[in-house]
Amino acid sequence: MDTVVLSLGGSILVREEDNARYIQALAEMLINVSSAIRVFVVTGGGRIARYYIREGRALGASEDFLDEMGIEATRLNARLLIAALGDHANRIPPKNYEDAVLAAERSKLVVMGGVAPGITTDAVSSILADRVGAVRLVNATVVDGVYTADPEKEPSATRIDRMTHEELLDLVGADSHRAGPNMVFDAAGASILARAKIPLMVVDGRDLENLRSAIVGKPFVGTAVS
Ligand code: UTP
Repeated sequence: MDTVVLSLGGSILVREEDNARYIQALAEMLINVSSAIRVFVVTGGGRIARYYIREGRALGASEDFLDEMGIEATRLNARLLIAALGDHANRIPPKNYEDAVLAAERSKLVVMGGVAPGITTDAVSSILADRVGAVRLVNATVVDGVYTADPEKEPSATRIDRMTHEELLDLVGADSHRAGPNMVFDAAGASILARAKIPLMVVDGRDLENLRSAIVGKPFVGTAVS
């Protein structure tokens, strides 16, 4: 049975409108897919993490402390998805890669957040993909792929449908000093995937049919990095 890691951006899990309905539909799709594929899901922190990090920083907390709060937010989001998955997933988000591997012995779907200060869930999902021998890492976000530039600032930016790991590294590495929401995948995660030669699929996670295609290895709309 193939293993796939799904990195779910916080922007997908934490939205204002009607999100329970989306998360329920996402959970149903994942349960369905898990009969043929073992799926590990890593959830991002989104607005929840940004709120605590911003307010904590204003209160003088150390960066390490802020990262720990960010990690708690990613785990809170993991629990939201777990709530929808019920008995099909682990109940408590594993706190490290070893516990994630152990959790996979009991359930085909494993959901977790962050693990350690100083990184993001892009890096966590990349390390996990390497650890569990995943055939691909699917990054689901609210952008439909990797663009030549930030499409919000650069109207002429175009989506890159296929690229190599080296090309992705050039793109995100060049931007790493001003990393922000315009970068769909961070440099640390990109270099871990390049080293392990694990393909990355970047898709708009709001389109569940398309997300499903990316997870199961069928043609999809987005960016394929290999
Ligand atoms: P995210 O992975 O959501 O960070 O974790 P991000 O990439 O900054 O968020 P988006 O994609 O732009 O929405 C949220 C925060 O939690 C901490 C970091 O501070 C991170 O910015 N974190 C997360 C860690 O320190 N370690 C982890 O393993 C995961």
